[in-house]
Amino acid sequence: MFVKPSILTAGLMLLGICVLFSCQVNDSEDHKSLTNNFELKKALAIERKVDSLLAIMTIEEKIGQMSQVRHFYDIEQGDVAKKLIGSVIHTQGLLPGEDAIEWQQKFIGLQKEALSTRLGIPLLFGVDAVHGQNTYNGATIFPHNIGLGASRNPELVEKAAEITAKEVQATGFNWVFSPCIALPYNEKWGRVYEAFAESSELTAQMARASIRGHQGNLSDKKRVLATSKHYIGDGATDYGVEGGLTSIGAQELNDSLLLPYKASVEEGVGAIMASFNTYEGIPMHAHKALITDTLKKSLKFDGIMLSDWKGYSRFGERDIINAGIDMVMAVDGDLDFFQEDLKNAVDSGFVAQSRIDDAVKRILRQKYRLGLFENPFPDTTLVNIIGAGEHREVARQAVRESLVLLKNEDDILPLDKKTAKIVVVGEHADNSGLQSGGWTVNWQGTQENYQGATTILQGIKKLSQGDVLYDKNATEKHANAEVAIIVVGETPYAEFFGDIGHESNNLQLTLTQKHQDYISTYTDLGLKVIVILISGRPLVTTAQIEQSNAFIAAWLPGSEGQGIGEVLFGDFNFKGKLPHSWPKSVEDLNGKYGPNFWTDDIAPLFPFGFGLQY
Ligand code: BGC
Repeated sequence: MFVKPSILTAGLMLLGICVLFSCQVNDSEDHKSLTNNFELKKALAIERKVDSLLAIMTIEEKIGQMSQVRHFYDIEQGDVAKKLIGSVIHTQGLLPGEDAIEWQQKFIGLQKEALSTRLGIPLLFGVDAVHGQNTYNGATIFPHNIGLGASRNPELVEKAAEITAKEVQATGFNWVFSPCIALPYNEKWGRVYEAFAESSELTAQMARASIRGHQGNLSDKKRVLATSKHYIGDGATDYGVEGGLTSIGAQELNDSLLLPYKASVEEGVGAIMASFNTYEGIPMHAHKALITDTLKKSLKFDGIMLSDWKGYSRFGERDIINAGIDMVMAVDGDLDFFQEDLKNAVDSGFVAQSRIDDAVKRILRQKYRLGLFENPFPDTTLVNIIGAGEHREVARQAVRESLVLLKNEDDILPLDKKTAKIVVVGEHADNSGLQSGGWTVNWQGTQENYQGATTILQGIKKLSQGDVLYDKNATEKHANAEVAIIVVGETPYAEFFGDIGHESNNLQLTLTQKHQDYISTYTDLGLKVIVILISGRPLVTTAQIEQSNAFIAAWLPGSEGQGIGEVLFGDFNFKGKLPHSWPKSVEDLNGKYGPNFWTDDIAPLFPFGFGLQY
């Protein structure tokens, strides 16, 4: 009760300053400097509010702000208030409700609990929306970042992020754990598709666009906080092992991996997530030199440094907080331990009070920037825009622009819409789950059709003016068709489940024998064959490219499968360029790999940037 008036007073003083300031502006001053000045005043006002709130917080209130929990785990009714929680995460696990209204209601309830506390500090609600609001069945799902990297179109990436932000807000969240700005060094890594490209310049450009699209004017109720992740070296581990050892030198780290983070900070990214990998023998979560000295001090990152999943129990809560982590994903039942132990560490001087204050300042700063103190609840009118036609149109454009044409023998493409008989082959052709990859509806993706999505086959059928037959497993052998479109590729995976060589799977860098046979079945029948590869990374398909008449890398296109048909039938030409060098043989990828990997001895089949048009 005592506090709120003091915040209000600060607010009124600020308003006074702003009014005074705007009266004094010289007419001749250009609009840009006016805006800059206004932004500066706004920022200063936020800093003052943060400082006055921090000044009256107890250590328990501060540690509470540093805790992020699942909405169904570690907390029961009343615990958000009792444990003074700062943020709630939704990822794999129980859904917040049946539909978007129920999701919002769930979070409104939790927000009310937070607002009922002594200081009434609102919650941040975070979600892994990495290619659209992919935790919500029925949202618009964009191509994964690898496809957006192929598009080379930052305006499109910005639009996609803006739409994602709206659909995320519509389901009750104000924070996304995206974009992933990794630089994948090895196709064996299971998260290659979450990253835009192997090039740091392209990744930096796309990171900027994504952050702009998500955050825009942050206090607008249709925008969300973005998170660049995973800092740093996640994709550059030896042999592409998720959370493994990154053994590159400091110079390379600086010149290459750091570039997208510099761009993110310049773009004002609200949060950065630490990575599971180890660098210089130190787990990145505990790497003080890179988190505090490089990111916070040298690059002047002023947002929230977030741990990854249970980072504190993996790497030690005291060490990671001392290294500069500001908020922990306190998940899976050890919230109480985290809160108590951090308090003990502060009491004993192991963790400095100033470190806690730095963390809490950063969290409060973002909450003010988001306008949560004035406007803590989601906009209920937004639920109707989830999966809207105009959102799907942008996603379809993204699908079209992400496709990379690797071969087009005898100008088989574009196909004539009047082609009398086309056979489409492969389970990937008629399954929106398979065409979307991991982080779609579920963490590990789905192998079922999901709400609102259009499959590749549905798109082809809609556009064709002839007969379209479907031979799911290449058993019907339609020899009388004029052309076969064969859709093959990977099944969905996420994180280490996608690492090639991980004990949890038997993934390989080539097509399965079954999928190779789909292609041979139709080439043996003498048909012209167009292969569409659905995959989260370049696969070694040298023989299949040789075998086919046309070959398209379609990555993981998401919910708008019709975008593929639109390019096949010539409504739009191909635009995509390879975001990764395309490997020639499996043996080439046996080593550690890296940007200097492609040498005269090991040349890619297609270089970075390759992509044909018809
Ligand atoms: C992943 C992150 C993700 C987090 C929350 C972790 O396992 O590495 O990318 O944001 O889980 O779901």
